Amino acid sequence: MIQFFQTKLTSPYITGATSEDIPQLSTIHSQSFTRGWSKNELGKLIGSQGALCLVLRQEGKIDQPPMGFVLCRQASDEAEIITIATEPKNRKRGIGRFLMDAAIRNLQSDRVKSLFLEVDETNASAIGLYRSLGFVQAGERKGYYSGQSDDEKQPTNALVMRLDFQ
Ligand SMILES: CC(C)(COP(=O)(O)OP(=O)(O)OC[C@H]1O[C@@H](n2cnc3c(N)ncnc32)[C@H](O)[C@@H]1OP(=O)(O)O)[C@@H](O)C(=O)NCCC(=O)NCCS
Repeated sequence: MIQFFQTKLTSPYITGATSEDIPQLSTIHSQSFTRGWSKNELGKLIGSQGALCLVLRQEGKIDQPPMGFVLCRQASDEAEIITIATEPKNRKRGIGRFLMDAAIRNLQSDRVKSLFLEVDETNASAIGLYRSLGFVQAGERKGYYSGQSDDEKQPTNALVMRLDFQ
């Protein structure tokens, strides 16, 4: 069987999410997490005070649905990543990194000093991404995530990670 490997993206198109993007963002979220967020839940979060949601589309494809998104929320000089997800078929192409870089630039220009997030200690890909951006562990929440399925009932810990801007 011939396998096609997706290449890394070079010049993606990143913008703020629009209401037309919400169905696709809800699909990506459901494909990425055990409990996906409905369009309604996502719409409310995106519209909430201090929220910033960035979406990434393919180069030159302004009218195409997003391949990934990041949602963060700012309060005073601190911010948190609420969620980030890339379409499963487009992972490992640099999308997560482009989105995090863009979110960080936006927050820095809004005078944010520290960015926080919580990540499941078993989520190697996300932890790899955050560490490569300079996030460090700032705490741990024991048993924060409940088991994903009947076969895997053990709760897992959340790592609290923090990035301080200079
Ligand atoms: C985490 C996630 C957003 C990364 O998105 P992505 O578009 O695949 O990430 P990128 O291609 O930009 O990778 C950036 C870096 O992340 C790390 N990374 C990505 N996938 C990885 C994997 N499977 N294993 C280890 N590190 C990985 C690497 O450091 C990588 O840099 P490199 O390609 O230069 O080695 C994606 O895996 C995802 O949507 N996961 C499901 C949702 C999720 O867990 N979100 C995070 C919740 S806290």
